[in-house]
Amino acid sequence: MIPPKPPSRPDKVSLRRYLKLFRQDLLSAQPARLYRAWMAEFRTPFFRSFLLNQPNLVQTVLKDRPDDFPKSSRISEGLRPLLGNSVFLTNGETWKRQRRIIDPAFEGGRLRDTFPAMWQASEAAVARLQTMTDKPLEIEEHTSHAAADVIFRTLFSIPIDHEVASRVFSRFRAYQRAQPILNLAAFIPLPRWMPRFYPKGTKENAAEIRSLIGQLTAERMAAIKSGTAPDDLATKIMTTPDPLTGDLFDTEEMVDQVAIFFLAGHETSASALAWTLYLMAIYPDWQERVAEEAVALDAGMAFSVMSKLRLSRDVFREALRLYPPVPMMVREAACPEKFRDRDVPKGAQMVLSPWHLHRHERLWDDPDAFKPDRWQTENGRTCQREAYIPFSSGPRVCTGAGFAMVEGPLLLSMLLRNYRVEPIDGREPVPVAHLTVRAKSGIWVKLRKRT
Ligand code: HEM
Repeated sequence: MIPPKPPSRPDKVSLRRYLKLFRQDLLSAQPARLYRAWMAEFRTPFFRSFLLNQPNLVQTVLKDRPDDFPKSSRISEGLRPLLGNSVFLTNGETWKRQRRIIDPAFEGGRLRDTFPAMWQASEAAVARLQTMTDKPLEIEEHTSHAAADVIFRTLFSIPIDHEVASRVFSRFRAYQRAQPILNLAAFIPLPRWMPRFYPKGTKENAAEIRSLIGQLTAERMAAIKSGTAPDDLATKIMTTPDPLTGDLFDTEEMVDQVAIFFLAGHETSASALAWTLYLMAIYPDWQERVAEEAVALDAGMAFSVMSKLRLSRDVFREALRLYPPVPMMVREAACPEKFRDRDVPKGAQMVLSPWHLHRHERLWDDPDAFKPDRWQTENGRTCQREAYIPFSSGPRVCTGAGFAMVEGPLLLSMLLRNYRVEPIDGREPVPVAHLTVRAKSGIWVKLRKRT
């Protein structure tokens, strides 16, 4: 068994070295002190950045006073060509209005309605993998495919093989490959007036993705008008008026939102599922337990089956702790603050790091170990409340959190019911931060058919 714990961590690194290491190995390159500190500072010539690891400070920024810590625009820049004015990037009143329209589509009751589409996407993933057993397989590619399929089926009632859907998907992969690590923008000492240059192809790919999504949205608008639209997430969002003003999203704004659902909804879930499968490969005892539990799926498609996939949920939750797909989030202090007796000037970048918080040595028992049963312990429950933020928290919490916690365990159980996952010696994945936490050279495993 290969433990995910890193062999050693440097104790101190310079900012320059930090930036370099960040791109190399997220797990072992982070300075050891960041896993023990409550707060740390990065000074740059143009602004200051603070990493917050103390639960009550994280709570202040995300939950108690989110209006005083808006999303940092430094982070948005790389995504602007693709996401326009989407809910992921906006702040203030615009953001509040967008959430009022979007949130009802993701409420608990709606999950039941989207479940059949998730189930079908999971079955399609199992079928696609049938010819890929007994040989090394880069599993992230397949989890991306599966997660994109879930998004298209739940949003627009079309599978990933649909012509437009598959073009969005392949363009998106090109976009992602060209895009540098977003979160680093918070540390990179560039003054605001300096022009930003996007990597080659970024704008072209973004324009193509937006035009394809625009096509789907316009078609849907027409179907809504003629009364022939399917009852899926897109219809729900496009027909829900803002309860305060009665306004609906216009087509352009809807394209922005669809772009973020696609991006936030498939990148993250794909990363989480790929790491979970890797963990299953190196912890075969847990894998067998999840596979045994998955016989509950034999009863056929019914939302109630989710209450029987308890181990699968705990395993997925533990994978989100060790490999949070969004490793860091950045906010900006709108006014001067005093945190832990330190002056935080207006405009300082506040870094909230699931990556560090989830492995914090002073909070978690055995923080680097894979222990899905920790969620039943006192420490696990306390930390889940206070130091576990894979979906962020507070009013700006991920809209798709409930969705993801159905999709992830369902796909995991469905895959493990059909396949056994094995690690490949010498190909241990090294986590690095892209748009999400990915593995430097992919996550390689072998699948064996279960009989
Ligand atoms: C395992 C899967 C997922 C993880 C770990 C995840 C994580 C996150 C995190 C950490 C944020 C906050 C980012 C920030 O504030 O900087 C976020 C925001 C968001 N997520 Fe997710 N997400 C997941 C799946 C999904 C899905 C399936 C959807 C939609 C179908 C979705 C839609 C969104 C949207 C729209 C936002 C922006 C919310 C706002 O700013 O108001 N996510 N997600």
